[in-house]
Amino acid sequence: MFSRNVARQASSIARRGFASSARAERKVAVLGAGGGIGQPMSLLLKADPLVTSLSLYDVRGAPGVAADVSHVNTASEVKGFEKDDIKSALTGAEIVVIPAGVPRKPGMTRDDLFNTNASIVQTLAEACAEYCPKAFICIISNPVNSTVPIFAEVYKNKGVYDEKRIFGVTTLDVVRSSKFLAEIKGVDPKDVKVTVVGGHSGVTIVPLLSQTPQGKDVTGEQYKALVKRIQFGGDEVVQAKAGAGSATLSMGFAGARFTNSLIRALNGEKGVIEPTFVKSPVYASEGVEYFATNVELGPNGAEKILPIGEVSAEEEELLKACIAELPKNIKKGVEFVKSA
Ligand code: NAD
Ligand code: LMR
Repeated sequence: MFSRNVARQASSIARRGFASSARAERKVAVLGAGGGIGQPMSLLLKADPLVTSLSLYDVRGAPGVAADVSHVNTASEVKGFEKDDIKSALTGAEIVVIPAGVPRKPGMTRDDLFNTNASIVQTLAEACAEYCPKAFICIISNPVNSTVPIFAEVYKNKGVYDEKRIFGVTTLDVVRSSKFLAEIKGVDPKDVKVTVVGGHSGVTIVPLLSQTPQGKDVTGEQYKALVKRIQFGGDEVVQAKAGAGSATLSMGFAGARFTNSLIRALNGEKGVIEPTFVKSPVYASEGVEYFATNVELGPNGAEKILPIGEVSAEEEELLKACIAELPKNIKKGVEFVKSA
């Protein structure tokens, strides 16, 4: 009898434990929620059962987006904020996803966005430092290679810097690699996982196709074309949109996926691994302070930065080109804040 009661109690505790982790409160804030990325990403976050509260902020338009998204019949609550009401948007947020800033037009590089987006990201970093300094920050605004260092420098100045909590979102490169390789191989992209390392622009994007079962026998001209398509996939969309912006829908998908991975890690799931651009020791000895590799995510953020692993001769060359470019982008971000 005693043992039956204990067993019943244990199973009830286990059920309660499960129920409470399934219902863990997870407030996600989106800064730039009224924009091309912000709107579809907010919709996907509303559809994610792990998000319990969604806070949508933009300098203009977020309350309308929030009203619209809030009618989707999932359990999470949605609130919209605009203009000066960023404090209400950020207070209590555990994850902040930032697609605020201007997108490219044909003929522009991501670096051409620096002059406008650097100040936007700096302002938003100051607000996050004040109202949710412990939140995980997911930076989508370009140029990511520079905006991540900008965010980090602001946090250092404010005395709230924790390198494990600031992420540059490079998931779109991972999503594209999977899709483009799957197309070549005629397989379902869900079975194709490609690790993409480096940064998020042109030659700094380095797909490690040799580490993927479906990718290691892609050679010659086909290999070169695939790498080029992954590195310049953003340009493909910018050109097709012909002045109406850059990737928004695929980025919304990628941003929601990265956010879901962070929440799963926060909720205690083990083995959640995503490539992301973070403060990294991988090439630090060569002056590269931030670098994307596979990162194991956990309740404190970037728990473990995984090594690059074995790479092919071609990938060695791609990495050299990446390492030659990336420190300039990073330095530009750091100096922007230091010189302000
Ligand atoms: P968009 O112009 O459609 O939307 C940007 C939104 O940001 C607008 O609604 C604008 O009002 C808002 N905004 C501007 N300043 C703000 C501020 N201070 N606070 C809050 N909101 C502010 O642009 P988009 O297509 O959504 O792209 C946004 C950014 O994401 C661009 O910089 C783009 O280059 C970048 N991007 C990154 C990736 C990636 O892989 N990391 C992919 C696609 C686009
Ligand atoms: C992308 O990769 O699509 C984004 O970085 C947007 C861009 O400017 O290409």
